[in-house]
Formats: sequence, structure tokens, C-alpha cells
Amino acid sequence: MSKTKFIILILFIINLSSINCAKNKERQRKKNYTEIATNEELQKLSQEIFELDTTNILSKLHVNYQGRFRSLNSTDDLAPEPLLTYENELTELDTIKHMIMMYDNYERNSSVNEIVTDDERQEEKNFINSLLSTAVMKKTINFLESKNLVGSSEDEHYTLLHSIWFGLYPRNKGTHATSSGFEHVFLSELKKKKTIGLHSWIYMAMMEKSGELDYKGWIDRVDLGDKAVILTIKLAVNGYRKNLSSIIIGAPPELEFALFTLCFKTRANRKCPLSYNDIKFNVNTYSIVHKNNKLVGTAYADIKENVS
Ligand SMILES: *[C@@H]1O[C@H](CO)[C@@H](O)[C@H](O)[C@H]1NC(C)=O
Ligand SMILES: *[C@@H]1O[C@H](CO)[C@@H](O)[C@H](O)[C@H]1NC(C)=O
Ligand SMILES: *[C@@H]1O[C@H](CO)[C@@H](O)[C@H](O)[C@H]1NC(C)=O
Ligand SMILES: *[C@@H]1O[C@H](CO)[C@@H](O)[C@H](O)[C@H]1NC(C)=O
Repeated sequence: MSKTKFIILILFIINLSSINCAKNKERQRKKNYTEIATNEELQKLSQEIFELDTTNILSKLHVNYQGRFRSLNSTDDLAPEPLLTYENELTELDTIKHMIMMYDNYERNSSVNEIVTDDERQEEKNFINSLLSTAVMKKTINFLESKNLVGSSEDEHYTLLHSIWFGLYPRNKGTHATSSGFEHVFLSELKKKKTIGLHSWIYMAMMEKSGELDYKGWIDRVDLGDKAVILTIKLAVNGYRKNLSSIIIGAPPELEFALFTLCFKTRANRKCPLSYNDIKFNVNTYSIVHKNNKLVGTAYADIKENVS
């Protein structure tokens, strides 16, 4: 082969591989989220996992809605009474019992580092195992497995939930491990004198009972039959306000974890369309990437589209 021919051949090969590379990129771009799971698949699964929830919690709760806000800007208090009161037997449900045990593990101030003790690590473990033993969570994990979004071993199921929900990350610039998805969504945090997070009705009910949380009134509401009510509310924790938060009243922790984890794995940072008995709603989840791990920044039900 002459030198010129050789160089032409090399150039040809380089060209071929760059065309291949571009094609791969194009393919990657096309392989978008709807190919991982279609909207219809998500809605069908959501229907199935709502049906699998037989805790019947909503019937054991007393919900006192009181005043409704017509303006989001209002700082009024339209609710002198608590939103939620519950029978003590509710806290005996395995997953609720284990969740409540972790409430004292966290620093609410999102500028203060979290330190996880061995006991607390064990509490996380007990809680995740209680979630994984429910029919609701098993169904969800099976679906994620069928989509290659988690491996098939129990260790991998555990590690998925533990890493995305309990992995620590900085919430504010210049801080270290001050936050986790679990703390943000299932408890609440304090940032610049504002309450942030707080999407768990159980946490809300317990904080109302202890007098630390003041419910101010509601904004919008979507009833999910006998299973749950999605409600947007205004509130204050120890005087620190949150102007708009959404909670799924009556959903046990396994149902909230199932819906939020499903959406985080298939629709992070975009709308995740779900449904129960033909009532459609969205879940929004946002990711935070910390040390190459993609963790839950927040997750909540979004009912703006249902009511506009
Ligand atoms: C994603 O893929 C689906 C099905 O292939 C297609 O209908 C949709 O338009 C695509 N969306 C984006 C944002 O590329
Ligand atoms: C609410 O507040 C925002 C920003 O503070 C303002 O732009 C808006 O006009 C206010 N809306 C009402 C209805 O007062
Ligand atoms: C709530 O809204 C009021 C009025 O728009 C505003 O002054 C206040 O800073 C907001 N509070 C929080 C915690 O966002
Ligand atoms: C939160 O912690 C930071 C850093 O320790 C502190 O400066 C701030 O005052 C605390 N905020 C509240 C409301 O306690």
C-alpha cells in the first residue's frame, strides 16, 4: 500500500467512527424517558398500587379543612383548628411506626450538618425493610426491575431506596451533608427563615399534635376516592412559614415511597402522570447530583392542572 493510500484509509476509518459516534449520540437522544416507561404504563401501575393499599387509613382520620385561600399571597390564618387528628392505633401500622422513630434523627436547620449514628442507621434499615415487605412496594420494585432500573436481588432493592432517599447532600452552598430526600420530603427543613419540604401528612399530623405546626388553611384539593386526598396548604413550623405545600392525606408511607420512587426513576425533573380511578394527577420529583450519585432533592404531588 502506498503512503497516500494508507493515509486515506486511516482518514476513512476515523471518519466512519465519528459518524458512528454521532449516530450513537442521536440514538441516545431519541431513547428518551417515554421509552423507559410510557405515560400509560405509569398510570396503570399507579392504579394497581393504589388498589394494593388496603390500610384504609383515610377512614381513621379526621380532616378539618376550614378556610380556603383565594390568593396565594395571603398571609392570613384561615384555620384556628388543626387540619388532622388521628386515632393512636394509626401509629401502630408497621411502616408508620418505623417512620416516626426516625423523626428525632434530623437537624431541621438546613445549614447544620447531619451526623448519622449507628442506631439511626439501624432505624433506616428497619424502616426500608418494612417498606419492602408491603405488597405496594413489591409491585413497584417488580416494575422497576422489569425496566432494568434496579437489579433483581434484595440487596439491590434495599440499596436503591437507601441511596436515593437517605444519601446525604448539601442543601445550601458551602455546607456539607445537611440534607437528604427523606428529611426534606417526609419531615421538613428550615432555610433562610422559611420552612421548606414537608410533604408528609403523618409528620404534619404529629407536629400539629405537639403544637409545633400551625395549619393556616387550604388552597386546592383533589379527592382520590376512598384512598387519599391531595391537598395544597399554607402552614408554619415554629413560626417559620411555607406558603404552598402539598400532602397526600391518608396515603401510608409505602404508597408515598412507591409513587415518588417510581416517578424519580422514570421522570426525574419532569412531570410524572399518575392516576387512580380515572382521576389524573402529577408527581414532580427533582434530583440532586452529589458525588456522582443522583439523589432525591424533592418529591410531591402536583394538582395545579387538575384545578385550573
Ligand atoms: C420521546 O419518544 C416518544 C416515543 O418514541 C416520542 O413520541 C416523543 O415525542 C419523544 N419526546 C422527546 C422529548 O423527544
Ligand atoms: C402576589 O405577589 C407577587 C410577587 O410578590 C405579585 O407579582 C403578584 O401581583 C401578587 N398577586 C396578587 C394577586 O396580589
Ligand atoms: C409568603 O408570601 C408572602 C406574601 O407574598 C411573602 O411576604 C412571604 O415572604 C412568603 N413567605 C414564604 C415563607 O415564602
Ligand atoms: C441555622 O444554622 C446557622 C448556622 O449554624 C445559623 O447561623 C442560623 O441562625 C440557624 N438558623 C436558625 C433559624 O436557627
